[in-house]
Amino acid sequence: MSDYVIECHNLETAYAASLNRPILNGINCQIKRGEFVVLLGLNGAGKSTLLRSLVGLVPPVKGEIRINDLVMTPQTLPQIRRDVSMLFQGGGLIRQLSALENVLCGRLGARTTWQTFLGFPKRDRLLALELLEQLGLRQLADQKTSLLSGGQQQRVAIARALIQSPQILLADEPITGLDIMASQQVMQTLSKLHTEQGMTIVAVLHDLGIAAKYAQRAIVLNAGRVVYEGLCDNLQAQFAEISS
Ligand SMILES: Nc1ncnc2c1ncn2[C@@H]1O[C@H](COP(=O)(O)OP(=O)(O)OP(=O)(O)O)[C@@H](O)[C@H]1O
Ligand SMILES: [Mg+2]
Repeated sequence: MSDYVIECHNLETAYAASLNRPILNGINCQIKRGEFVVLLGLNGAGKSTLLRSLVGLVPPVKGEIRINDLVMTPQTLPQIRRDVSMLFQGGGLIRQLSALENVLCGRLGARTTWQTFLGFPKRDRLLALELLEQLGLRQLADQKTSLLSGGQQQRVAIARALIQSPQILLADEPITGLDIMASQQVMQTLSKLHTEQGMTIVAVLHDLGIAAKYAQRAIVLNAGRVVYEGLCDNLQAQFAEISS
């Protein structure tokens, strides 16, 4: 078994006429088990597309994605999805549902259609409540998520991603739009999952200071390619090069 849990080899996605090139244009990167990696890049660099491709939401046109030594194909995707959870940019919660119901939605992938008609088992409800408790949201479990603050919604989204006990968590801009306190809480939650549970975390961030504080390594994208992969020191210089 290799040390890497995520590997992209010459990953290319569909051609975008507006960009005059494939959106991901030959991505090569490798992420080790238990690493906390930050994914950086200007707007439109391809960060969200890369994370989405790692859970099979953007089909590769060329190249290869390997998760836990498994090459991603339609056949291996269900197994890969059991190991990888994604936190979508903007949270992606269902506004009309309560916090608890949103967290339970994270279990839908593990259940057959007819099982979902029977409602969620008590075990899942207890697990969802426990996760909400850990994230400081126990009191708000029955609140509609549209009524929660941005930071609270983000934590519900984290609970939803965690209910399937993933080995790998992909977080697309988990702190964008949050105040300093809420950002810190969310980053500390991710950091704890990394240090205490050994979870592999890949987070898209825009703040270089926060990136350097929490992540062990950075991957910088520009125009659908990796332009830097390495330590988080001197990230400013990497960006100065992109924007020049
Ligand atoms: N389905 C699509 N069809 C055409 N173009 C797309 C599609 N999805 C994304 N793009 C384009 O691909 C580029 C990369 O988009 P992506 O969302 O991955 O960027 P990003 O790095 O996440 O940016 P941001 O920091 O703004 O979130 C953008 O120019 C976007 O307009
Ligand atoms: Mg994005």
